[in-house]
Parts: sequence; C-alpha cells; structure tokens
Amino acid sequence: MSVNSFGRLFRFTTWGESHGPAIGAIVDGCPPGLAIDEGMIQPFLDARRPGQSRFTTQRQEPDQVRILSGVFEGRTTGTPISLMIENVDQRSKDYSDVARAYRPGHADYAYDAKYGFRDYRGGGRSSARETASRVAAGAVARLVIPEVSILAYVSEIGGDAIDMANFDAAQIGANPFFCPDAEAAGRWERIVDTARKAGSSVGAVVECVATGVPAGWGAPLYGKLDADLASAMMGINAVKGVEIGDGFAAARLTGEQNADPMRPGADGPEFTANHAGGVAGGISTGQPVVVRAAFKPTSSILTPQPTITREGEATELFTKGRHDPCVGIRGVPVVEAMMALVLADHKLLHRGQCG
Ligand SMILES: Cc1cc2nc3c(=O)[nH]c(=O)nc-3n(C[C@H](O)[C@H](O)[C@H](O)COP(=O)(O)O)c2cc1C
Repeated sequence: MSVNSFGRLFRFTTWGESHGPAIGAIVDGCPPGLAIDEGMIQPFLDARRPGQSRFTTQRQEPDQVRILSGVFEGRTTGTPISLMIENVDQRSKDYSDVARAYRPGHADYAYDAKYGFRDYRGGGRSSARETASRVAAGAVARLVIPEVSILAYVSEIGGDAIDMANFDAAQIGANPFFCPDAEAAGRWERIVDTARKAGSSVGAVVECVATGVPAGWGAPLYGKLDADLASAMMGINAVKGVEIGDGFAAARLTGEQNADPMRPGADGPEFTANHAGGVAGGISTGQPVVVRAAFKPTSSILTPQPTITREGEATELFTKGRHDPCVGIRGVPVVEAMMALVLADHKLLHRGQCG
C-alpha cells in the first residue's frame, strides 16, 4: 500500500528515515519551464533546520538540498523532480532504550503493532526529519503559485497566546519562535526554557495565512480545499487539531456573528469579515485562506514514564537523545510548505477543469 504520496495533479512522494544515509522527495506533475535552482529551495530548509537556537533540538543537520532530476538548464522539464538531503548528524546509540521499550505518545508501539518490525533509530520513518522533504517539495510548489503569499507563525506556546494587537510581521524572523508579538516571544523564552531545563516539553499553535488565492480554487464535497488543507496539516507529525477560519469557535457564534457580509468593490466583491477562513463550499472565495494547526508537546521527554517493553513487560522510560522541547516552533516552515503544496495542486486542478 502506498501511503507516502500527497496531491493529485501536483503530487509529491517522500522517502527516507531519520538515521538513513539521506531523505528526499519526488515531485511529479510540476509544470515545465519554471525557473528553479537549489538556492530557491534552500532558504525554506534553513528556516526548518534544527540546532539554530537552544529552543530546538541540538541535532546539527546542514540540510543541503540537491536536485537530482527534472531540471535542465535551470528550468523544470515537466518530469519528476527528485530532491535529496543527506543525513549527517545521526547518533544511533542514543536510541538503544527506544529499541527495547516504547516511548509513550510517540509512534513506536503503533509502528510495531502494524509492521512487527521498525527502524527505531531516531524514530525511523516516524521522525519529523521527514518534514524536511516536505519543505523542499513545498518550495517547488511555491513556484507554481507566484500569485500567492504564504505566512505562518506561532500564535500560542504552552497555552500562552499572542496578542493580535501586537502583531508585527517583521518580528516573525527576528526571534527564535517565529512569533509576531515581541512581548509574547519574551514570555515564551521563559516557558520553553523552563520546560527544556526540566526535561519536559510544551505544545504550540501555528497559524498560516495565504493571501492572493483567487476565488474558485477547490471543489465541492469530496474535493474540498478545506478538507485537503486539513488532511495536509493533520499529516504533519505531532499535529492533533486543525482549524479553518474560526474553526471550533464558529460553533459558539450565531449566524449573524459568523456571517462574512459582502459589498460591491472596485475589483469584485469585498467581504467585511472572514470567519470562513477564505473557503466556502470547499472553494476559495478570494479572501485570505486561514489555517491553524495544534501541535502536541514533544513526547520524547526526560521525565520517566510508565511503558512496556517489546516483550510486553512493565518498565519505565525516559528519552535520552536530542529532542525539540516544543515541536510546534520548527513546525512553522512545514505548515507553510503543506499550504503551498495543497494550493499548487488545487490551482492545477482548477485550471484542468475550468481552463
Ligand atoms: C518539526 C518537528 C520536530 C519534531 N521533533 C521531535 C522530537 O525531537 N522528539 C519527539 O519525540 N517528537 C518530535 N516530533 C513529533 C514526532 O515526530 C511525532 O510526535 C511522532 O512521529 C508521532 O506522531 P504523531 O504525534 O503525529 O502521532 C517533531 C515534530 C515536528 C513537526
């Protein structure tokens, strides 16, 4: 069964494990003739790269991408684009305990229950190392949708949310949390440091806004743009909840409060609110597409947890090795990539059906 691919017309497949020689992605269905080189992909990988501050894992991976196929004389040829990233900083001995017993909250038990065999080194295929491949594929997707701007940021860490009144996009790249609120970033230093020093972890919410999406991308019912976005975001490691627009808060509003009133504008309709998050009936409205993803706290923690061994005996496990104290932080470039991948696919689908 193939479960490593995503998308219909713009389709990508990822491969590789945390402690194998390399990881990568194959992007199929990319239109020909788009200018591309490794330098256009690398900045997105650099944003996701581990070891850049004390608030992320100290694994040091340069994450240098190589394009192996699908590009000739600096332009896409329309054939599969193969992207490869070497793994250089593996320490498999850190994982001897994980080989013996299951980390509660991680995928160790579920993988063994399904396959009866697993690469436990760094979590193998369940490691978020895989998300580097998506980020590389997402950089290619961005070339297909130059009319769209995608911006993601952390909006909450450890239950402490940003104040939208303090929102400053310039702040996002200026602190180690991708945080648009400088005051919140200051508080989060203490929150993440406290968790890190205690060998614990905290959760986070990542919000992503895509502007410039024209009205008409998506499809009704079984091909809904919002359903594909939810699937894309939920497919990211550690994501346990996804909201489109107001999401669950919409269930607490009245019809009047939740309406997105329309007015005639100079360039087509204008909306005076965006509770729907830019999608209605599964189709984009021309408003910003807004998605939020809830990342659970890292399950590999230093606090001993009751668990069982592979033989089914009771034991306790604390996870050594190098882990992110808050995985949502490095989730930001991954969320942006998945947004780009879904939108590129829907742009091509829309063009395919409606011209
Ligand atoms: C960018 C990123 C980094 C992550 N780093 C870690 C980590 O260092 N340690 C860990 O236990 N989980 C980490 N995770 C989460 C696990 O990969 C994830 O919890 C695991 O695969 C189980 O899948 P699930 O949480 O989606 O059920 C990370 C997730 C992301 C998105």
